[in-house]
Amino acid sequence: MSGIVAYIGKQEAKHLLLNGIKQLEHRGYDSAGISLFDGKDLLIAKKAGKIAELEKILEQKDISSNIGIAHIRWATHGAPNDINSHPHCDNSGNIAIVHNGIIENYSALKTKLSEEGFSFKSETDTEVLAVFIGALYNKVKNLDEAVRLALSEVDGTFGIAVISKYEPDKLILARRGSPMLIGIGDDEYIAASDASSIIQHTRQVIYLSDNEMAVLKKDSFYTKTIDNIATNNKVHLIEFDIEQIEKGGYEHFMLKEIHEQPNTFFETLRGRLLAEKGDVRLGGLLPVIDKIKNTKRIIITACGTSWHSGLVGEYFFETLAQIPVEVEYASEFSYRNPILDKNDLVFAISQSGETADTLAAIKEVKRKSAVALGIVNVVGSSIARATDAGVYIHAGPEVGIASTKAFTSQIAALLLIALHIGRMRNLSQVDGIKIAKAMLKIPDQMKSILDNTENIKEIAKLYSKTSNCLYLGRGINFPVALEGALKLKEISYIHAEGYPAAEMKHGPIALIDENMPVVFVAPQDEIYKKIISNIQEVKARKGKVIVIATEGDKRIKDYADHVITIPKTIDILTPLLSVLPLQLLSYYIAIERGCNVDNPRNLVKAVTVE
Ligand code: AGP
Repeated sequence: MSGIVAYIGKQEAKHLLLNGIKQLEHRGYDSAGISLFDGKDLLIAKKAGKIAELEKILEQKDISSNIGIAHIRWATHGAPNDINSHPHCDNSGNIAIVHNGIIENYSALKTKLSEEGFSFKSETDTEVLAVFIGALYNKVKNLDEAVRLALSEVDGTFGIAVISKYEPDKLILARRGSPMLIGIGDDEYIAASDASSIIQHTRQVIYLSDNEMAVLKKDSFYTKTIDNIATNNKVHLIEFDIEQIEKGGYEHFMLKEIHEQPNTFFETLRGRLLAEKGDVRLGGLLPVIDKIKNTKRIIITACGTSWHSGLVGEYFFETLAQIPVEVEYASEFSYRNPILDKNDLVFAISQSGETADTLAAIKEVKRKSAVALGIVNVVGSSIARATDAGVYIHAGPEVGIASTKAFTSQIAALLLIALHIGRMRNLSQVDGIKIAKAMLKIPDQMKSILDNTENIKEIAKLYSKTSNCLYLGRGINFPVALEGALKLKEISYIHAEGYPAAEMKHGPIALIDENMPVVFVAPQDEIYKKIISNIQEVKARKGKVIVIATEGDKRIKDYADHVITIPKTIDILTPLLSVLPLQLLSYYIAIERGCNVDNPRNLVKAVTVE
């Protein structure tokens, strides 16, 4: 999610705006920009890279201004380069906007505006909105009315700030699905997408609601809905300090990102899942859609958590699209001279888009003329640029080193792709609709798990001193067992291993005694009976059993020492829910052990060396 700061008042706007976006920079952005009205012209400065790059440009300009907007970008549409950076202008260059969110109908708007003779410089959805506002301004000659009319026709999400040379005494703000706060100072207002950019100026804020806009002048403002109905807003006092605001009030980024998953899962689906048709729209795959449709084999390559999501994806492609799949560690795949040909599809999964092992695997794929597709979070990253096409997971910046929300969004992206290919092949519309409906229930089901963590905290207290732990799962939940083990290893430094539950009797069961906690991922699915017998094997040898079970499962408490329940969903979606308790369990155990959860020892967020 990008960052916005806007100002109108008596202070010099330039430094205030730059300091405002600097508060947001460490969350991993890729470009920054600012627009100021200096009493004569609307000045724009924007640059890919860190804010320091932007400051170099501004140092050369002697600008005095009391109104401006600034933006720090997390790219969603268009690579992170200068031209795609915000602010964006209308064709006259007299209206500038910055935007957070995704305009879903930007392509249709862009076509309509192009046919009316308007032009575009960037690949972004934001510029389309800027040009649209400019086109409407030409008709209504009123800035806030032009903004209101434009937003009335927009599908998708936005947090925007708009200034103009036409009406330089006005700052316009609006929001739908992307936060926008107005800080109230003495004859000045500082607005932002995040309170951390406001609180050094004022702690009195107003939170705009969805489909609400504000028109601010130096000494007054008013708010109304996009349907033109006046609104009143309560003034709130921000009590958090900056550190707490950065983490959304959570103690760590990891916990914040675990709790973001209902939203980030939906952001991966947004504008792509056509639930009423049981199908999917994935513009990012269009360049290679024929090769995808006719492929005979899929290979998935990745590292760490991304490799685990790839193992889940294997079940999706084989059950929904009937395509054989191999899942490969990228570090192994790129050095074993894999047998590939031009009919093979290779998906590279990477949150950072910078993992050297995965990048090396892609180069090997390209050398052998197979199709390389990316499932990446960071737009414009090396892996995104190295692949022929791909799907961005839109999970927003993931700051905690232990990957959490990226895992569930990678699974969501894999599911969308498998559903799309399946519907191009033999998957019926009825089955597609059934899966789509179950997907739309996932955010609320995730919330119900995340709202009930007391039981998990208690279990974490009981087992925080263990030296070892086993994670067992079957079928599509075996990769979830692997992921749960990795989370515990990464942040609590406890030795943990994930295994297929049935594999225990082939050796590892020798490890079981009263000192070995064993976590079973055992939702009521088609192989439930089998995993119950695996649980009994462990119990018979005095192992301590913690089970992730389906709500309403009355039998499980007879076999387990501790039960953590998840809502019922269709079998192939259970990993989206069963992983949440494991993320939380690892988090609370690490807290009990006093570990540095967001920055565990020996680890980095992107492993850019092979
Ligand atoms: C996961 O919690 C780890 N931080 C690590 O295994 C990570 O998943 C792996 O390094 C791959 O990173 P990527 O997804 O950015 O390529």
